[in-house]
Amino acid sequence: SVHTVTTMPATRQPGCPFDPPAELLDARRHGPISRYTHPGGKPGWLITGYDLVRSVLADPRFSSRKELMNVVDFELPPAPPGEFLLMDDPQHRRYRRPLMGRFTVRRMRMLSERIEQITADCLDAMEETGPPTDLVTAFAKPIPTIVICEILGVPYEDRGSFQEQIDTFMGGETSDEELIAAYTATQEYLAELVAAKRAKPTDDVLSELTDSDLTDEELRGISLVLLAAGFDTTANMLSLGTFALLQHPEQLAALRADPALTDGAVEELLRYLSVAKTFMRTALEDVEVGGQTIKAGTTVVLSYHTANRDPERFADPHVLDLRRQHDGHLAFSHGIHQCLGQQLARVEMRVAFRALVDRFPTLRLAVPAEEVGLRPETADIYGVKSLPVTWDKGRS
Ligand code: HEM
Repeated sequence: SVHTVTTMPATRQPGCPFDPPAELLDARRHGPISRYTHPGGKPGWLITGYDLVRSVLADPRFSSRKELMNVVDFELPPAPPGEFLLMDDPQHRRYRRPLMGRFTVRRMRMLSERIEQITADCLDAMEETGPPTDLVTAFAKPIPTIVICEILGVPYEDRGSFQEQIDTFMGGETSDEELIAAYTATQEYLAELVAAKRAKPTDDVLSELTDSDLTDEELRGISLVLLAAGFDTTANMLSLGTFALLQHPEQLAALRADPALTDGAVEELLRYLSVAKTFMRTALEDVEVGGQTIKAGTTVVLSYHTANRDPERFADPHVLDLRRQHDGHLAFSHGIHQCLGQQLARVEMRVAFRALVDRFPTLRLAVPAEEVGLRPETADIYGVKSLPVTWDKGRS
C-alpha cells in the first residue's frame, strides 16, 4: 500500500539544520510517491524521489498555474501579468523569452568582474567593522541585492527599503496584513520605476524591456519575479552555505587549499542544501506517476531537497562532498521553469565563497551552532536568519 504523509508542515530534526525534515526522508524510504493532505485539507500527493520529480517537471500534463493550485478551500486568483513563474506556456514563454538572452553564461561571465568588486567591498567593510559580524547582513544579502538591482536598474538609494519589503514577503513569518502591505509597497515602487525607465531609459534590463510590446503592468510583474527570485535564493545559499562549510571543517580546508574545487563546491552546496526546497504542480488530466493515478485537478508537492538526497541517484546522498562529480541536481528545477538566473547565481556564489574563504582563513561561528536562527519550514526558501561569525584580527 502507498505511504501516507500526515504530519505537515514538517520540521527539521534538532541539530540537523541541513537535512530535509524527517517526515520527508521517511516518505522517500517508503517509496518515491506518497499520499498527502495539503495544509488546507485538500488531498494531494507528495513526490520525494529524484526520477519521479524530474519526470513530472518535464511533463506538460502538469501545470504551474496559480489559479489551478488545489490546496486551499477557496479559489486562488491567477498570477498577475508578468509573474511567469506561476504560468504555463504559451503565456509563460511570452515573458521568459525576451529575458533569456540577458542571463546567458557569456553575459554572466562578463559581469563577474563587477561581482568581484561588490564582494571585495563587502569584505572590506567586514574587516573595518568586525569582528564579530552577522554574515547575513554584511555579506550574504548585499551581494545578490546589489547585483540584481544593478541588472534591473534599481537606483542605489532605493535598495535598502526594497530589500526589507522583499524580506517581509519571503521570510515565512509575517502576518497576512504585513504581507499585503509589503507586496503593495513593492508594487507601487515598481510602478514608479517602470514609469521612470520609460521616460528616461538607462543601461539596464528593465529599460531594454520597455522597448517591446510589454505593458507597464507586465513589466512590473517581470521585475517582481526577477527581484524576488534573484536575491532571496542566492542570499540564503551564501549564508546557509557558509554555515554548512563551517560545520564541515575538513571540506572547508580542502576548498581553501584548492581554488579548482570552487565550481564543484557550489554545485555540491546547491544539491546538499536545496534552499528552494519544494514547488507544486497540478495535473491537467489523469496522469499515472510511479504506479499511482494522479487525478485531473490534483496538486502535487515536489520535494527538490529529498530528490537531491535520493540514494538511488546520489551515492552517500547525506554527505557533503565538495569533490563529488556533478550532473543533474534539481536545485534549479528542470523543464520550462528551470531557473532563468542559474548562471548568474553560479557566478555570484563562485566569486563570493572564493573571496570569503581566501580573505578570512580563521572564520568561525561566534555562537554555538545550536543558537544559529533558522527559517521555519513554512518559508518558501530555507536559510538562516542571521549568522554571527568571528575571526582573528590581523591574521584576518
Ligand atoms: C526559477 C532556484 C537564483 C531567477 C527558479 C526555480 C528554482 C530556482 C528551483 C524553479 C521553480 C519551479 O520549479 O517552479 C534558484 C536558486 C537560486 C536562484 C536555488 C540561487 C542559488 C536566481 C537568480 C535569479 C533567478 C539570481 C535572477 C535573475 C529566476 C526566475 C525563475 C526562477 C526568473 C522563473 C523561471 C520560469 O518560471 O521560467 N529558481 N534560483 N533565480 N529563477 Fe531562480
